[in-house]
Amino acid sequence: MELVITDNAAEAGVLAGRIMADHVRRGARAIGLATGSSPLGAYRELIRQYREQELSFLGVQAFLLDEYIGLPAGHPQSYAQFIRDEFTAHVDFTDSDVHSPDGRAADIPAAAADYERRIAASGRISVQILGIGANGHLGFNEPGSSLRSRTRVKTLTPKTRADNARFFDGDLNQVPTHVLTQGLGTISDADHLVMIATGEGKADAVAAAVEGPVSAFCPASILQMHPHVTVIVDPAAATNLKAVDYYRFAVQNKPAWQSF
Ligand code: GLP
Repeated sequence: MELVITDNAAEAGVLAGRIMADHVRRGARAIGLATGSSPLGAYRELIRQYREQELSFLGVQAFLLDEYIGLPAGHPQSYAQFIRDEFTAHVDFTDSDVHSPDGRAADIPAAAADYERRIAASGRISVQILGIGANGHLGFNEPGSSLRSRTRVKTLTPKTRADNARFFDGDLNQVPTHVLTQGLGTISDADHLVMIATGEGKADAVAAAVEGPVSAFCPASILQMHPHVTVIVDPAAATNLKAVDYYRFAVQNKPAWQSF
C-alpha cells in the first residue's frame, strides 16, 4: 500500500484523476467509479484531460460501486444519474458502457447476480476509485460486511443515512434504507485500488483502515489485503495516522521508474 499525503484536497483529486487517466491511456478495458463527494476532484481532472489532452473513454466500460434501492429513474441522487451528471456525460463515454446495479429491479438478488456477471464479462477492472465512509465503509459495505462479499443488498446504518441526508435536502426520511453494493470481494478483484479521503471527518476512518486491524468492522481495512493500493489523503484526513514521516519519506524517495 502506498500512502500519499498531498498539500490540500484539490491536489488529492488531481493526483487520483491522473492515476485513473494513466490506466485509460494504457488501454484499460474497464474502470470502476464511485459516488459521494470524495472522487469529484478526480472526475474534474479527467474531464480536463479529455478537453485539453485528448484523453478518450470510447470503448471503456465503467462500473459503479453501488446504488440505492427504490429511487425512481432519473432521481438526481440515484448514483446512476449522479455519475452521469458529475462525470460521464462530460466526456466521450458511450452511455450504455456506464453500468450500475439496478436498484429498481423487481428481483433484487437477481439484479445483484446480473451485476457480477456484467463485471466479469468486461474482463478485469483496471482501476477502482474509492471514497471511504466516516464509519469505514467502502461502497455501501457497512461495518460487519464479509471481507469476501459479492454484490448484494445491504441495509444502511443510521450513521450513513444521516451522513447522506445532506444530498436529500437534509431530510432523513428521503434517504433509502437499502442499497445494492459491490461486495468487498468484488472490489478486491480490481487491479489497482485508489482511495481518496479528505477532511478531518475522515481521519479516524483512514487511520483504522490503513493502520488498524483487518476487520469486517472496518470494511476499508480490506485494502491491506490487496497487492496494489494507493491511498491519497489531505493533511486533515492524515491527522490520526502514526507513520506519517515514513509515508512522506517513501513518496519523496520514490524511484523515477516507479509509477503509482
Ligand atoms: C457514500 C458512498 C461511498 C462513499 C462514502 C463517502 O455513502 N456509497 O461510495 O465513499 O459514502 O462519501 P463522501 O465522499 O461524500 O464523504
